[in-house]
Amino acid sequence: MSNQLKHLAIIMDGNGRWATNRGEKRVEGHKKGARVVDEITQWCVKESIQTLTLYAFSTENWKRPKYEVKFLMKMLEDYLESELEKYQKYDIRFYAIGDMERFSAPLKEKIAYTQEATKDNKGLNQVLALNYGARNELSRAIQKITNQLEGKSAEQIESLISSHLDTQEFGDVDLLIRTGGERRLSNFLLWQISYAELFFTPTLWPDFTPSELEEIIKDYKARERRFGGL
Ligand code: IPE
Ligand code: IPE
Ligand code: MG
Repeated sequence: MSNQLKHLAIIMDGNGRWATNRGEKRVEGHKKGARVVDEITQWCVKESIQTLTLYAFSTENWKRPKYEVKFLMKMLEDYLESELEKYQKYDIRFYAIGDMERFSAPLKEKIAYTQEATKDNKGLNQVLALNYGARNELSRAIQKITNQLEGKSAEQIESLISSHLDTQEFGDVDLLIRTGGERRLSNFLLWQISYAELFFTPTLWPDFTPSELEEIIKDYKARERRFGGL
């Protein structure tokens, strides 16, 4: 029997290198990367995948040069604006995970507006991780439940934590892909990937295609997931 794939998560890495390799500015890689987000999202719609979670900006990415951060913020705003029509047309629900507090008021509003406008859509959940860090997410979850912990068993606390994470509606990840050749997690979804299958590809995100994704999913489906059993 082949594995079901409900929740696919991707660390979209390699935009900067892609552009530098072509003698272009790093931000050109982000522009091309945004188009790939669109293609991959469309493919997931077509394949009826339930949830696609994409790492777009980490809590650590503020360390980048001001110019690049500013560019990414503007791109995100433009992206949400231009996507709304597609979200509605293809019945996609948009959802953001991460700590939105650090964003500018207009960006926060755009995120909230897009989420609200698509909340009843029943097709793919496109989850964007924005100012997201797994440690930050866990810490915020723990803040919310501190007064409920006393007298609880570890098992009960485990489900309390899961149900207070930003991803609570989407559950655990089945397959995690990282493009760009690095084999690390960079503070992404640490709790939710406990039993995910991992896949690392050297392909830089702007070169990633639906057909490579299809190959990876074929590999995933053939894997034996045991979850500690036999
Ligand atoms: C990933 O690509 C996109 C973001 C982190 C916003 P990078 O910008 O990290 O590209 P490389 O890793 O420097 O090539
Ligand atoms: C991870 O990529 C974050 C995103 C893809 C948004 P980075 O390029 O920031 O990760 P490191 O710095 O190589 O670990
Ligand atoms: Mg990178």
